[in-house]
Amino acid sequence: MRLLFLGDVVGRSGRAVVIERLPGLIADQRIDFVAINGENAAGGFGITEEIFLALLDAGADVVTSGNHVFDQREALVFAERQERLLRPVNYPKGTPGRGSGLFAARNGARVLVINAMGRVFMDPMDDPFAAVERELEACPLGEQADAVVIDFHAEATSEKQAFAYHFDGRASAIIGTHTHAPTSDYRVLPGRTAFQSDVGMCGDYESVLGMEKDEPIRRFLTKVPSARFAPSGGPGTLTGLAVEIDDDSGLARAVAPLRLGGVLAETMPGFWQ
Ligand SMILES: [Fe+2]
Ligand SMILES: [Fe+2]
Repeated sequence: MRLLFLGDVVGRSGRAVVIERLPGLIADQRIDFVAINGENAAGGFGITEEIFLALLDAGADVVTSGNHVFDQREALVFAERQERLLRPVNYPKGTPGRGSGLFAARNGARVLVINAMGRVFMDPMDDPFAAVERELEACPLGEQADAVVIDFHAEATSEKQAFAYHFDGRASAIIGTHTHAPTSDYRVLPGRTAFQSDVGMCGDYESVLGMEKDEPIRRFLTKVPSARFAPSGGPGTLTGLAVEIDDDSGLARAVAPLRLGGVLAETMPGFWQ
């Protein structure tokens, strides 16, 4: 099975490159399942239902999120009816939406997707280790799930690496999101879980985390906010991780980073050819 995971989509630049490049990638590379983190897709803050549906139209099977998921208030409502939108599973009880789901891939595989959020340098949350443990016990890899994909939305690489090794062998892929900067530590762990500390963002990298850089620079220099953060509007880079998953075990065989368009050096897509 061929899995593609795309990092946080930031604003119009991020949406444009995903919508332009993803359908062709899915067709050319015969990708079976696509997960996209969409937490910054609407003007850099949150996601609207219209944008969520546009990402599905482009080929996303599931849209994950993180701390920005409810920045657009309408997400509090449509998260309830859109099963393909996930918010972190370790939000407090009573939070709208859901943190996991079982979805059919194009090859017929049942893919469990879990979205969890870290706690180091992040808002206080329930324990992500315990929350994910409960999800995996309810729907284990090799039993009810043919593949398991976890989006671990966290700031600290230490927490992401500890999380990945803790669950190594029980998920097909554990992919970090939130920092908007891709790390080059993508690999298959000893228990055959694919891992990358952070997959990066889909957006304009000529920016500070996808935002126009003048205001962040000013705030670092003066500590005085003088304008709103706005997504940077230059050409976007589509940034993700491709994972080849063994159909029998549901564990990873190989990974490759994917970067297309924009200012980053392009990688792939010879991985699956
Ligand atoms: Fe983000
Ligand atoms: Fe985030």
